[in-house]
Amino acid sequence: MQTVLVLNGPNLNMLGLRQPEVYGRETLADVEALCRASGAGHDLAIEFQQTNHEGQMIDWIHQARGRVAGIVINPGAWTHTSVAIHDALIAAEVPVIEVHISNVHRRESFRHHSYVSLVAQAVLAGFGTHGYVLAISHFARQLQGSKG
Ligand code: DQA
Repeated sequence: MQTVLVLNGPNLNMLGLRQPEVYGRETLADVEALCRASGAGHDLAIEFQQTNHEGQMIDWIHQARGRVAGIVINPGAWTHTSVAIHDALIAAEVPVIEVHISNVHRRESFRHHSYVSLVAQAVLAGFGTHGYVLAISHFARQLQGSKG
């Protein structure tokens, strides 16, 4: 069975409590359950992680190399700041889908630039937590196609 790694960056452990008018009331545990259900429906193993520490995130991205079929990443604020995460994603040589719960393009201008989009195959923003499910099903579809 192939694996999709779902990575969440800083402050996403506060989902449900943090700015519910922007991010909704679902918790990170709810998002994990959604991802696992989606993975099970597509015969994909899901690994789900969150960290507030950039070095930890970089280590997880490196460890994905040669091991997982795809990375779904919500890098949180590192989206807009981290060349190191950008470089790690290139080094991993794994297809990446970038997910944002909110529509970052209708928010502050500092959220309009993403270092991760430059290395992502696709970007989902503003679909709420359903964006994670869409990303996993997109990988499933692609992997199915590549079995040919
Ligand atoms: C976010 C958007 C980022 O700008 C913000 O820093 C986050 C969450 C989102 O999911 O909408 O922490 O990635």
